[in-house]
Amino acid sequence: MTQVLHADAQTVTAVTHWSDRLFSFRVTRPMSLRFRSGEFVMIGLPDQNGKPVLRAYSIASPAWDDELEFYSIKVPNGPLTSRLQHISAGDKIILRPKPVGTLVLDALTPGHRLWMLATGTGFAPFASLLRDPDTWARNQRVVVMHTCREVAELEYGRRLIADLQDDPLIGEMVAGKLHYYPTTTREESRFMGRITDTLRTGKVFRDLGLPGPLDPAVDRAMVCGSLAFNRDVAALLRDFGLVEGSNATPGDFVIEKAFVGDGI
Ligand code: FAD
Ligand code: A2P
Repeated sequence: MTQVLHADAQTVTAVTHWSDRLFSFRVTRPMSLRFRSGEFVMIGLPDQNGKPVLRAYSIASPAWDDELEFYSIKVPNGPLTSRLQHISAGDKIILRPKPVGTLVLDALTPGHRLWMLATGTGFAPFASLLRDPDTWARNQRVVVMHTCREVAELEYGRRLIADLQDDPLIGEMVAGKLHYYPTTTREESRFMGRITDTLRTGKVFRDLGLPGPLDPAVDRAMVCGSLAFNRDVAALLRDFGLVEGSNATPGDFVIEKAFVGDGI
């Protein structure tokens, strides 16, 4: 791997491979980096000529963590991830410490029930927000819907959710507030179906024993998936009367792309 000799170099501290398509890793955190849980930064590696190949990545760790965590796809011929997937502890990556993004609690008006709606690696910003005490202080209920094609793709999220209850910082805050609804669409599992379908038909409310349907007086949502997913979920949320928000104008729901392109 080409050496990173860069002012923005950070050191990899741990790598976990979840499947042949997914891995997560942790890196040192620059002293100067302040971010809000849910934001993304640019990270990368130099190419053979030393030129940085940078891509947007949601920070998957919460704002209070000493290190930074990322949850990544492995694109077979991807300019970055075809090489990034081979990093190991001690390697350097480039990290531009300029966090931005709309999946932040401040971009939502106060509500009671927060929906985190993700497909694939779109779970990453929620891995950050779910470990942030502010998420639990601000909401009476948090419903996490994560949909992937196959069961193995849900494992990073499943493990993280399971660990929340035992977390010394937020375990007690989470108790009784968290509702987790992992679904698959192309492999048999306990819950099946697209997020759009289970929200529209009310299946998710019946399965979790929650009052429905979505209600702008109560519900707030954060959405992170493919362009098609984001578009279809936004249309659904608008149908139920929710209004999109932003950092400048907080609203009932916010959206971020999990990646650009059609998926692999
Ligand atoms: P690219 O040339 O960037 O992508 C090649 C193709 O692979 C894309 O056209 C698309 O079809 C597909 N693809 C890329 N990323 C994904 C993905 N995550 N899931 C499914 N298909 C994909 N990626 C992450 O893995 N984790 C993140 O936390 C993350 N956060 C992002 C946040 C934002 C705001 C944006 C815009 C993108 C984010 N991405 C994330 C995507 C990331 O920027 C890169 O596209 C990805 O790392 C692949 O890089 P690459 O150079 O190997 O391939
Ligand atoms: P499906 O298998 O029915 O296409 P992808 O891997 O293509 O990014 O998809 C990840 C997950 O998101 C899959 O379970 C997929 O369901 C689902 N999905 C893809 N597009 C949409 C959409 N427009 N609305 C709702 N769910 C979607």
